[in-house]
Amino acid sequence: MCGIVGYAGTAGSVETGLPSRAVRVVLEGLRRLEYRGYDSAGLAVLAGKRVHVRKKAGRLANLSALVETEPLPAAAVGIGHTRWATHGAPTDANAHPHLADDDRLAVIHNGIIENYAPLRNRLAMGGHEFLSETDSEVAAALLADNYRSLVGNRTGGDTLAAAMRRTCAELEGSFTILAVHADHPGLIVAARRDSPLVVGLGDGENFLGSDVSGFVDFTRRAVELGQDQVVSLTADDVTITDFRGVPVAGRDFAVDWEAAAATKDGHASFMAKEIHEQPEAVRRTLGGRLGADGAVSLGDLGVTDEVLAGIRKIVIVACGTASYAGQIAKYAIERWCRIPVEVDLAHEFRYRSPLVDGRTLVVAISQSGETMDTLMAVRYAREQGAPVLAICNTVGATIPRESDGVLYTHAGPEVAVASTKAFLTQVTAGLLLALHLAQLRGTGDPTEISAAARELAGMPAKIQTVLAGEARIEALAASMTDATAVLFIGRHVGHPVAMEGALKLKELAYIHAEGFASGELKHGPIALIEAGQAVIVIVPSLTGSPVLHAKMMSTIQEIKARGGRVIALADEGDAATGGWADTVLTIPASAPLLAPLLTAVPLQLFAAALAGAKGLDIDQPRNLAKSVTVE
Ligand code: M6R
Repeated sequence: MCGIVGYAGTAGSVETGLPSRAVRVVLEGLRRLEYRGYDSAGLAVLAGKRVHVRKKAGRLANLSALVETEPLPAAAVGIGHTRWATHGAPTDANAHPHLADDDRLAVIHNGIIENYAPLRNRLAMGGHEFLSETDSEVAAALLADNYRSLVGNRTGGDTLAAAMRRTCAELEGSFTILAVHADHPGLIVAARRDSPLVVGLGDGENFLGSDVSGFVDFTRRAVELGQDQVVSLTADDVTITDFRGVPVAGRDFAVDWEAAAATKDGHASFMAKEIHEQPEAVRRTLGGRLGADGAVSLGDLGVTDEVLAGIRKIVIVACGTASYAGQIAKYAIERWCRIPVEVDLAHEFRYRSPLVDGRTLVVAISQSGETMDTLMAVRYAREQGAPVLAICNTVGATIPRESDGVLYTHAGPEVAVASTKAFLTQVTAGLLLALHLAQLRGTGDPTEISAAARELAGMPAKIQTVLAGEARIEALAASMTDATAVLFIGRHVGHPVAMEGALKLKELAYIHAEGFASGELKHGPIALIEAGQAVIVIVPSLTGSPVLHAKMMSTIQEIKARGGRVIALADEGDAATGGWADTVLTIPASAPLLAPLLTAVPLQLFAAALAGAKGLDIDQPRNLAKSVTVE
């Protein structure tokens, strides 16, 4: 979490009354990175042999307003930070940058310093007065300490980088750290471990960002920093070393403009835009992978057919929405491929001593490709000798880079914190993988499998049909702004969809919501049903799953008997559901395993509409961040 930006260029002037280029570049980078955290924002510039800081709790707009009322001097160098709070509340004092070395050193940090408590004690005993509750200020104080002791012994431009290397050797945890010092005008020193950082290469100016969106407006040339590396950046030089000081070469790459340039495109929110992009996003996931005859070809996956043919078990690791996509893949893989599948929340996986070996395929699902919990699960799986396949949206992100192979979803940039098109495309990729494995291993009912493959190709058009019902869902949401709790139930693949629907409502509308398997209702949760309690029911297909459909009809009656209000998602033509539910939202009929591509959509629209009706921030809900890069 947290977004980080750095700029080293030329000072220019502020005579026009406009902020200098350093300030403008940093603020623009922070605007694009705000999805990574928005509890506070701050920046520091170097000018006139002094460090100048502005920082403010709350959204970036607060910082921009502060910079307008308290302008900064013309500067050649600037660093900026947008925070997702870990240690310490979102206050001005806890906002980055943090100062040390008599306010001559400014530091910003993303990650968690796990040994911050003993370090803080040691530094406090040495006389450092801490002004914040953050672990990040400890990194600033330690860097100042190391800098002071090195300055006593040597001179030269490398002192700050040497101090950074020494500091990194003492820190435990994950971090990206950027530092500027008044002794070194024109220089930014940065380091990274288990937390992202990329360098942008300009003409007479260079950039740093948590990801390329931090500088995409200014350059398309970038260098990826590896694990445990330190970079010294000036307007015309980029020097990278490892933590021992040995020079290393970074990997150059061209920035994919499409992946970084996101606009709302006329929609009221990024989420609305992304919901409506879903037919096209799913089409892109399918693109070139599904033949007219239903044959699936996944191209060069990075995990060979020979390996896939020999696997005995699959473990899917993911978090949040991505884990629900994984649960849907489990149903498809077990039915079509007859391979046992476990789905683990990535943060639980490696701590339960899982049984994985060279014949276990571990599938890591992640939109961002940077989720720390999932990355750690990937590393653990590979240490155990398991082949790892990533299902990822972000090309070149850490998780696909560290996996043996990758199936990209090609959903395009997802900016809203709440996942929508990421979910549908992850489900699509999981279905493609299941079909591919079934065809490769000759398992499952060939007629059912080829029918499902052909039907999958038609799902984008059906998603479009569901989107056409938006107005009705908006009206329903507008009638429910006073709801304090909403339950979601489903069976089979409807169960993960119910959990996804509940997650969307919690994160966007701040309404307590729970999603569970409807068979569980009678084992406890039915106690929650009282007069008027809203229950959203994902009804199994009447034609595709008649047995489950019949059981769901009984469940609906049990809810109605206790005064509950049933809002059902059912196939067009499902008259039985219409006879019992208070409200029925219809979706086109589909094969049961493909239905989540349709049933998830009204739940996304519902959560967004309810949040909108309550006047909440749909794209940046409270307490959250898009990319969860801490464990
Ligand atoms: O980037 P990832 O797919 O790895 O993110 C995993 C979760 O943090 C994410 O799916 C989260 O639950 C959603 N954004 C919620 O809508």
